Amino acid sequence: MGDPKFVRYGEQIRPPVRDLEPLIWKGRDIARELDKFDEVPEYYNGRRNLVLQHPALGDIPGTSQTMHVAFLHLKAGEHVPPHRHSYTTIIYVIRGRGHTIIDGKRLDWEPGDVYLIPAWADHEFHPEEDHLLVAVTDGPLFVYLRSLVVQEPGENAIRSAAAEEKQAALPIPPRAG
Ligand SMILES: [Fe+2]
Repeated sequence: MGDPKFVRYGEQIRPPVRDLEPLIWKGRDIARELDKFDEVPEYYNGRRNLVLQHPALGDIPGTSQTMHVAFLHLKAGEHVPPHRHSYTTIIYVIRGRGHTIIDGKRLDWEPGDVYLIPAWADHEFHPEEDHLLVAVTDGPLFVYLRSLVVQEPGENAIRSAAAEEKQAALPIPPRAG
């Protein structure tokens, strides 16, 4: 924690730049981590979501301070029920076909497609084949602003980072291995 401090205007408007180190997540390492999902019991409606985590961000999930990139793997017939969150998601389809319903609108997708899930839009995934997606979101930005809000199915109360102790909008899934 430390003692309270004071800064003057010049420091306030010219904060130090804290750049992240450039990093590369190798495809073979991503593939190995994705393979581990087969060893993990089903959790959180079957979602297998692998975030590319920058180590400099500590325990705040993020690929950078403002964005995260995640691989989503679902199997044919699995269903991610409607949920919504305060961050925006852009999805790129690597493999598999299926559809996603976003605020009542059905979007059919296939490999190579890109689609947008706007902030706070209800969305549910219906993969018709085993599929792999890449999701890019601005989620970490909301964590730093203490305004991450996620509503999962069956939850009447909205779970928010601001309302709960620490940020705990989603439970931590069990680790593989
Ligand atoms: Fe989502």
